[in-house]
Amino acid sequence: MKILIANHYEELCKLSANIIKEHVQAKKDAVLGLATGSTPVGLYKQLISDYQAGEIDFSKVTTFNLDEYAGLSPSHPQSYNHFMHEHLFQHINMQPDHIHIPQGDNPQLEAECMVYEDLIRQAGGIDVQILGIGANGHIGFNEPRSDFEDRTRIVKLSESTIQANARFFGGDPVLVPRLAISMGIKTIMEFSKQIVLLASGEEKADAIQKMAEGPVTTDVPASILQKHNHVTVIADQKAAQKLKKASYL
Ligand code: F6R
Repeated sequence: MKILIANHYEELCKLSANIIKEHVQAKKDAVLGLATGSTPVGLYKQLISDYQAGEIDFSKVTTFNLDEYAGLSPSHPQSYNHFMHEHLFQHINMQPDHIHIPQGDNPQLEAECMVYEDLIRQAGGIDVQILGIGANGHIGFNEPRSDFEDRTRIVKLSESTIQANARFFGGDPVLVPRLAISMGIKTIMEFSKQIVLLASGEEKADAIQKMAEGPVTTDVPASILQKHNHVTVIADQKAAQKLKKASYL
């Protein structure tokens, strides 16, 4: 696991955008795995400005998002589908049929999960997967004690994640869906050729320390990344403040 400590959030965004940009420049039909949440918003802004500057072409790129709330239609303002269009897709030249996000309002949710997993397999896996991390160590919506063998499936959100995500629902946790579809840990580990995990802010400091330096345990789902052979963690100083090994700095 390579750990890069950025001086501030803007640098984190620039470093992660550069990884994606260089990858897409070298492989025009790259498959990218994307995340939602606050952390990657600046990365997406940077990619939009790189696109506007003519430095990156998304016309042949395929994307797969990590997760989506169950029960929300793609057009629902709090759906991850809506989020991705607002923060990235509507500003760049992605082909709509190259964009994949689980359909949260599919009445056949289990079938949706299986089809999604198959689509990633058929695409040949994911070249670069962007991950955020929950304060409880989750990746995607794989909450603590998720099985490391899990594939894309329906998951129950933990209480702490419901509270953390209430800010996207006008601050009201009651409005946060209780279920979601998420790529499983096995899906992420097996299908991602390269993983870039982003973390910003001191509320992520414990999770980053446990992920990188603690035991590999389902109590901290992200700790499994210690067993992946190509992971780059990009953390700002606040998120990195509890790391013990000075060699990262
Ligand atoms: C979102 C996702 C989540 C977030 C995590 C951190 O697609 O998969 O694991 O990455 O909850 O969210 P933020 O960035 O809002 O702190």
